[in-house]
Amino acid sequence: MREKVYIETLGCQMNRADSEKIIGILETQGYTKTNSPEEANLLVMNTCSIRAASENKAFSHLGIWKKFKKNNPALKIAVCGCIAQQTKEKIFKRAPQVDLIFGTHNIEEIPELLKQLDNQEKVCSILKTPYNTEEKFYSKRTEGISAWLPIIEGCDYFCTYCVVPYTRGRQRSRLPEDIIEEAQQIISEGFKEITLLGQTVDSYGNDFKDKNINLSSLLRELNKLNGLLRIRFVTSHPADMTDELIKAVKELDKVCEYFHLPMQSGNTEVLANMKRPYTREEYLNLVNKIKAEIPDVAITTDFIAGFPGETEEQFNDTLSIIDEVMFDQCIAAAYSQRKQTPAAVWKEQVSYEDKKRRLNILNTKAKETTLKSNEKYLGRILQVLPDSWKEEKGKIILTGKTRNNKIVHFEGSKDMLATHINVEIYEASIWCLKGEIAP
Ligand code: SAH
Ligand code: SF4
Ligand code: F3S
Repeated sequence: MREKVYIETLGCQMNRADSEKIIGILETQGYTKTNSPEEANLLVMNTCSIRAASENKAFSHLGIWKKFKKNNPALKIAVCGCIAQQTKEKIFKRAPQVDLIFGTHNIEEIPELLKQLDNQEKVCSILKTPYNTEEKFYSKRTEGISAWLPIIEGCDYFCTYCVVPYTRGRQRSRLPEDIIEEAQQIISEGFKEITLLGQTVDSYGNDFKDKNINLSSLLRELNKLNGLLRIRFVTSHPADMTDELIKAVKELDKVCEYFHLPMQSGNTEVLANMKRPYTREEYLNLVNKIKAEIPDVAITTDFIAGFPGETEEQFNDTLSIIDEVMFDQCIAAAYSQRKQTPAAVWKEQVSYEDKKRRLNILNTKAKETTLKSNEKYLGRILQVLPDSWKEEKGKIILTGKTRNNKIVHFEGSKDMLATHINVEIYEASIWCLKGEIAP
């Protein structure tokens, strides 16, 4: 009998890419992936610890999985990802149904850990630095036209609110030759779009001592690959964005005009408390430069509402910057106290009620701005890469994204999937655009 594995992924795109790698490795060990946790003999929870809510979600899922174990005592439950890296074997105490814990640095140790699990009741392996193995594993990527490709792991910024440097370790850029080889593999599997991943993707190469390579030069190499239609990269750190990179996005035909550039706060003092190394004015100048250089560029961002010490006035600076920049999308969250991070123990915590109220105001303003930035495209012809379809009243409705990452629905035919189509936009909402094939 083949073993079946079900994986639940609760984190960011990096965690999703890790899950694809985990499945790729488990396939070499005789497992096949199932979409139904009930029929699995191995359940894997790939966790996120960015906010308390993501942590709670993981443990409530584990509560549900405990019941599966009653019906199937041979079932094994594994916990990995960012909570595992941070909390280690303490997870066994809170969730005794868990059999295996591994961290973000030792995914490639899985075959070894499974062997240990044959002889031991509980296995926990968390490493501080990446696991060394000569073996080359390939990710089992989710089907579709778009693939994720991690190019830089970890983060050296240590923003005062953020767990990522503790859960992912110090910044490590992957070798360009390994990235190009993986990109070629991705293209040979039929994917048309690659999204390069990193917590600070635009810092790529900063940690190489003996190589003169950065994200712009990597993009120039990837842009030459035949069979690939589009390249994206997330997430950019404002302090690492260079004129050279802006120029590369402008010039390279496959690189899409889209930047996710988290600002976190519109107030310079709050930014300093967060240890974000830029001021409101510097961020604004950067965004204005990008907009001036690249027509139809989309800029999206993240904000935190109610960071410790944030006054009502400072919060208003975040609201005003949204109007000033006219972001295409803002992802906002209420500040959450995270263990190991400095801000978690500051005494100037904003009350739960104020954080929620500010978050609501922020989200309302963000939606208005997204709508306005989508309405700019009414009557315009945009290049769409359709990746899925559905039948509606006998018609085929295709869905895809523009180069600047807007979702577009339009009537077409299935043979148009995974090809560039020019679409004239006639309707705009917060969530998407609607259009028809341009004449
Ligand atoms: N590396 C990216 C962000 C990664 S975390 C960057 O530097 O911009 C994704 C987002 O989660 C962050 O942009 C931030 O807005 C949010 N976030 C991180 N820690 C948080 C916390 N403690 N409380 C609330 N939101 C947080
Ligand atoms: Fe976290 Fe800051 Fe690093 Fe982003 S740059 S991952 S917010 S520490
Ligand atoms: Fe969460 Fe870890 Fe990503 S904390 S946001 S899964 S890097």
